[in-house]
Amino acid sequence: MKPVQIRPDVFWVGVNDRVTELFEGLWPISQEGISYNSYLIRDEKSALIDLSKEMLSDDYLAMLAEVFDISTLDYIIINHMEPDHSGALLRLKALAPDAVIMGMPKTVIMLKDFYGITENVERLSNGQELSLGENTLRFVYTPFVHWPETMMTYMVEQKVLFPCDGFGGYGTLDGAIFDDTCTDLDYYEVEALRYFTNIVAAFSKHVLGAINKFAEMPIEMVAPSHGLIWRENPGRILELYQTWSDYYHNPAQVGVTALLGTMYRNTEHALSAALEGIASEGVPVKVHDVRKTHISYILPDLWTQRGVLVAAPTYEGGMFPAMMDALMMADRKRVTHKTAAYMGSYAWSGGAQAEFERMAEKMDWTVLNAMGFLGGPAPTDLDRAREIGVQLARAVKENS
Ligand SMILES: Cc1cc2nc3c(=O)[nH]c(=O)nc-3n(C[C@H](O)[C@H](O)[C@H](O)COP(=O)(O)O)c2cc1C
Ligand SMILES: [Fe+2]
Ligand SMILES: [Fe+2]
Repeated sequence: MKPVQIRPDVFWVGVNDRVTELFEGLWPISQEGISYNSYLIRDEKSALIDLSKEMLSDDYLAMLAEVFDISTLDYIIINHMEPDHSGALLRLKALAPDAVIMGMPKTVIMLKDFYGITENVERLSNGQELSLGENTLRFVYTPFVHWPETMMTYMVEQKVLFPCDGFGGYGTLDGAIFDDTCTDLDYYEVEALRYFTNIVAAFSKHVLGAINKFAEMPIEMVAPSHGLIWRENPGRILELYQTWSDYYHNPAQVGVTALLGTMYRNTEHALSAALEGIASEGVPVKVHDVRKTHISYILPDLWTQRGVLVAAPTYEGGMFPAMMDALMMADRKRVTHKTAAYMGSYAWSGGAQAEFERMAEKMDWTVLNAMGFLGGPAPTDLDRAREIGVQLARAVKENS
């Protein structure tokens, strides 16, 4: 794509990543892709905010050269050191040797650790401002959105926020880069939630802290380093992130996420009965088969729904492995304070239930019911499963 002017002195110089299959080596983006958005400010002094992944440096630097003589660059602003934004730094530095690289104190350490850069580096402090001429940049320390060195940059006169990973989302920018010009805003919101739960949710407390720091600063545009630029309705993405972050300590939406793992479908039959119970209470339920669906696509439901129903059998004395993987990632991503139930088949020792209970305790889930049954579910087992569904649905409604 060509650079896009997004404000009088500001250009989007982002690149689309349609090559990477797993973002962070973990999260599937082979269908959706992702953008690395970078921003150039051309004023009396010039500044670049966030860069791109190294792999796309050629595209990135060529794009930048279309609107700017790179050798004259004055400042490189590093909001975040993760290589998806800093990977092009050495190539850029070779073309702009006099540019001063700016970041928070931990960024200065990481510049040395990642790239061996120690010269022409300026350590910023929280709230520090930099005048570029007409425009002033204010640097706000927002640790752990997403790493400990992370800051956000605020353009004071133009009221633009450059939050890097914060308020971002998956999905390449396909010709249109703004919330009001893209043709499928719902898609970007879905992908923003998936990105949030995969990348940022574990740091929700820090996201809320960051949002708080900007409460007194008017924001007319949110220009993150992944995904859409929000100019028509910047409040929308701030609100969404606030709502999602809030779920880390407040109850989420009324609904149940049912996770299924099964080898020979005995457990599936019990789950089917439980789903009837949930449906009879009018509570929304979403079923995910952990054998087929990557946890990346399950986390949005786990995060936003209050109830969890885990249905999986015993496998070699413990939880069915694909379910264990899902639970371990839920724990890693701090999916806490859920109302939960378990059901699963076994044939001799059992063991899945105990492993579920251990994980549930670790995540502070309230376990209403846990039911193991031998072999295929007997009619009484199915009745019990149905009743467990009813109880879970009622509990999820009651706590609202
Ligand atoms: C590879 C394998 C390992 C198993 N390990 C155990 C076990 O350690 N203890 C146990 O009680 N049942 C064990 N089972 C039996 C299953 O839990 C049982 O067949 C159950 O009905 C499978 O439920 P499903 O039809 O939902 O897959 C094992 C089954 C398989 C195929
Ligand atoms: Fe990051
Ligand atoms: Fe990132």
